[in-house]
Amino acid sequence: MTKRKVLLTGGSGLLATNWACAVRTEWDVVLGTHLHPVKLDGVTCCQLDLDDEARLWAQIGQMAPDLIVHTAGLTDVDRCEADPRLATLVNAQLACNVATIAGRTECKLIHISTDHLFAGDRGLRTESDMPCPLNEYARSKLLGESLVQAACPSALVVRTNFFGWGHAGRQSFSDWILASLRAGKGIPLFDDVHFTPVLADTLALTAHKLAEVGASGIFNITGDERVSKYEFGRRLAERFEMPAELIRRSQMDLAQLRAKRPGDMSLANAKTRSCLGVPLGSLDTYFSALHRQERQGRRMELLAAVGEASGLDSR
Ligand SMILES: NC(=O)c1ccc[n+]([C@@H]2O[C@H](COP(=O)([O-])OP(=O)(O)OC[C@H]3O[C@@H](n4cnc5c(N)ncnc54)[C@H](OP(=O)(O)O)[C@@H]3O)[C@@H](O)[C@H]2O)c1
Repeated sequence: MTKRKVLLTGGSGLLATNWACAVRTEWDVVLGTHLHPVKLDGVTCCQLDLDDEARLWAQIGQMAPDLIVHTAGLTDVDRCEADPRLATLVNAQLACNVATIAGRTECKLIHISTDHLFAGDRGLRTESDMPCPLNEYARSKLLGESLVQAACPSALVVRTNFFGWGHAGRQSFSDWILASLRAGKGIPLFDDVHFTPVLADTLALTAHKLAEVGASGIFNITGDERVSKYEFGRRLAERFEMPAELIRRSQMDLAQLRAKRPGDMSLANAKTRSCLGVPLGSLDTYFSALHRQERQGRRMELLAAVGEASGLDSR
């Protein structure tokens, strides 16, 4: 049977590379890239012009995907703060370009948003809570959500926070913790910042299931547990049998970060759970899967997957 085709924008990113690995046996995966080419077994890679709607229309028309997943974004929060115009262009305008094409071609769209949209004064936010962005990253992502929904009302808009194996040019939060501990280096982790992280593969598979059942609008796809960054690090270290005592408690105020950030980014996943009728998973389940992925070669495969930037940046 011919496989259905999924096009992932932001193809060299942390999420897209893990997403491709998670679904490549079931789907014909095309990674739509920007500056960095990607080489992954069983996956096609193709440079996409997200900022040129006419060219993008032709490129997507030729590919004829059954599903588009928009993961491309400017994810460096402090860079967004320093350059709000670029943040708006990448996180809102490019998303709108993709959504316009998905809307006109009636192609299903999964748009990846963030857990960063709230003020952080309380946790386990639901899809119907009113966002209150604290910084330019959050403002641009929130604008992206509304432009996407206007251009493509059937889009599935996913709010999330994830981790997985990164590559040479993109370390994930869990990579940074494990690499530091493997090098015997002590690290500070905030005990006053809370989140509900999900493994990238679980995020991908859950989003596909929601798309299958025709879900549209905003859905939180997050893990079942709300933890501090400190607790996340300690439990990760224990699962990987690393010296957890190298992780020390710290607080966000001590870090003197450029952009203001929410203290509590946790999102409630009850809407997703009740739509699919299954839990999304505990941290221990995710850490075991991450460990298994490493043994099965995912870490090494991804480390080598993303090439040097081609220098085509037209910004
Ligand atoms: N990481 C997290 O925990 C997290 C949490 C919440 C939400 N999110 C959201 O999840 C999505 C994926 O995040 P990620 O961590 O996988 O991102 P990432 O690793 O930083 O990758 C971002 C991707 O976007 C591409 N990109 C950047 N500027 C572009 C442009 N002007 N035109 C086209 N493509 C461009 C990059 O390509 P080049 O490198 O080739 O430029 C890269 O492939 C983002 O939308 C992010 O906002 C992430």
